Amino acid sequence: MSTLPIYLYGNEVLKKKAKHVTEVTDREITLIRDMFETMAESSGIGLAANQVGELKQILVLDISDMEAGKGTKPLAMINPEIIDEEGEWEMEEGCLSIPDVREKVKRPERIQVRFNDVNMNEVEMEADGMLARVIQHEMDHLNGVLFLDHLSSTKRTLLRSRLKKIMKGDVETTYDVVVAAEPKSKPKKR
Ligand code: NI
Repeated sequence: MSTLPIYLYGNEVLKKKAKHVTEVTDREITLIRDMFETMAESSGIGLAANQVGELKQILVLDISDMEAGKGTKPLAMINPEIIDEEGEWEMEEGCLSIPDVREKVKRPERIQVRFNDVNMNEVEMEADGMLARVIQHEMDHLNGVLFLDHLSSTKRTLLRSRLKKIMKGDVETTYDVVVAAEPKSKPKKR
């Protein structure tokens, strides 16, 4: 197993839709193992393949260290889809790809999710609270969506300078990261 660097905000891979996984080969198994290790190393509770630069519909999560997640087993989900949702709940979220930014996001409180496990068996599961929250956050990643995209434009404007810093890699993390390519400098004003 090895840890993988996490792609920071600004990288195109975070805006892309991950591809459906049709078959789990050694490559996918290795990826899932590495994602679990990367998540643990960075003290994350969820990680989507996009965040390690792979456009595959795979996410991992582990909320067992959290008060709200005690007794919840770590999970790997392949090709997850939400088939039902209920309620609404606002909660502060963060993201390993957007260090030191935390904002409240409204999401359904309970979901019914269908996915493939690592043996490609179809599984249906009900989730609520923290577990439902993490699944939805990571599923967003697989669709090229960040929690920032749920915020009002006012809120996003307020975060602009912070996000610019992250794009330039001007941020401290305890884990390895991939910084977005620095944007070309603007032509000088005449
Ligand atoms: Ni995230």
